[in-house]
Amino acid sequence: MQTESGKPFVLDADGVDPARVPKRKLYTGAEIPAVGLGTFGSDSVSGETIAEAVIGAARVGYRHFDCASVYGNEALIGGSLWELMAAGLPREELWITSKLWNDKHGEGDVIPSCEQSLKDLQLDYLDLYLVHWPFPNYHPPDCDVTARSPNAKPYIHEHFMKTWRRMEKLVDMGLVRHIGTSNMTIPKLKLVLRDARIKPACNEMELHPHFQQPELFQFVVDNGIVPIGYSPIGSPNRPQRDRMPDDTAPTEDPVIRRIAARLGVHPAVVCVKWAVQRGQVPIPFSTTRRNYLSNLKGVVTEPLTAEEMADIAGVDKNSRLIKGQVFLWKEGQSWEDLWDMNGEITPP
Ligand SMILES: NC(=O)c1ccc[n+]([C@@H]2O[C@H](COP(=O)([O-])OP(=O)(O)OC[C@H]3O[C@@H](n4cnc5c(N)ncnc54)[C@H](OP(=O)(O)O)[C@@H]3O)[C@@H](O)[C@H]2O)c1
Repeated sequence: MQTESGKPFVLDADGVDPARVPKRKLYTGAEIPAVGLGTFGSDSVSGETIAEAVIGAARVGYRHFDCASVYGNEALIGGSLWELMAAGLPREELWITSKLWNDKHGEGDVIPSCEQSLKDLQLDYLDLYLVHWPFPNYHPPDCDVTARSPNAKPYIHEHFMKTWRRMEKLVDMGLVRHIGTSNMTIPKLKLVLRDARIKPACNEMELHPHFQQPELFQFVVDNGIVPIGYSPIGSPNRPQRDRMPDDTAPTEDPVIRRIAARLGVHPAVVCVKWAVQRGQVPIPFSTTRRNYLSNLKGVVTEPLTAEEMADIAGVDKNSRLIKGQVFLWKEGQSWEDLWDMNGEITPP
């Protein structure tokens, strides 16, 4: 790791050599680090704190950062990336993801929105740009789950493909190396795979021991798409609007706790280890150095046993935490309608 001036980037003494962190190969041949740092502050952690964690995480060996314009902190994170690169961390060692927000699906909005993220992040290109949600619905930040946009729209494939054509254009323009989807379902992905000129390289989806989404996970893998797992620890600090009485917490699961006790780690670390071993790319959020360091160490140390992996496969509770209620487009619907539960796209 050298700068043009020859100054090497210095890892913290207790950090993890990034070369030891596993990688997943995308269909282009590029490799994404198998664990990344999430940067959504759940409306409670400041952008400054997160930007500081990005620096701290890079210094302990993280090279993959999951960003999004809607997190409202890309300009601060851009300052951190600049600082890291000035300290000798080469751009090509970093994997930076950003996402197109829902009010920017319009054909004239996609490219400017990506350009704004690049400007904020102080980068020439993104490694991955995702369509954050398949619904083009604006809702104000921090709004309650009962909030509905009067202009809310369902998934209309022809409209989504217009957005996707602009995403493909971003690859042609060299602004983005890969494009992908997030919060998709099998029937929606089938249509995108049928019609895309440049197919999604990754699909970001909620994945943790209590929400393993086995069918979607398998579909994605079978189609050469790398699954990126969000809320891998069960998002214990998620906003109030994303909480329901029936929600469960993977870090409180007796199986996860038993394995954590055996390894002498926090249950969160077991969730991250399991995710990487299963084959998804978890992006745990943390601004606490001890925690983000132990999550990274977890993926390069003693693996879970085959029996433990099987035990965790058995604790799935189909417990979706991020339900997306604000995207509902008409009265009388429930959040399940967003997720095409019967295998078909919910009709408009
Ligand atoms: N595509 C999408 O629609 C979407 C949706 C949701 C999230 N995401 C992405 O996924 C990322 C992660 O998801 P998330 O933020 O919802 O939740 P998460 O990663 O499941 O959980 C984060 C929480 O776990 C705590 N934590 C982390 N490591 C820990 C450890 N080793 N021991 C104890 N506590 C630990 C953190 O606290 P400390 O800070 O104190 O460590 C934080 O409160 C987001 O930041 C975002 O980048 C994407």
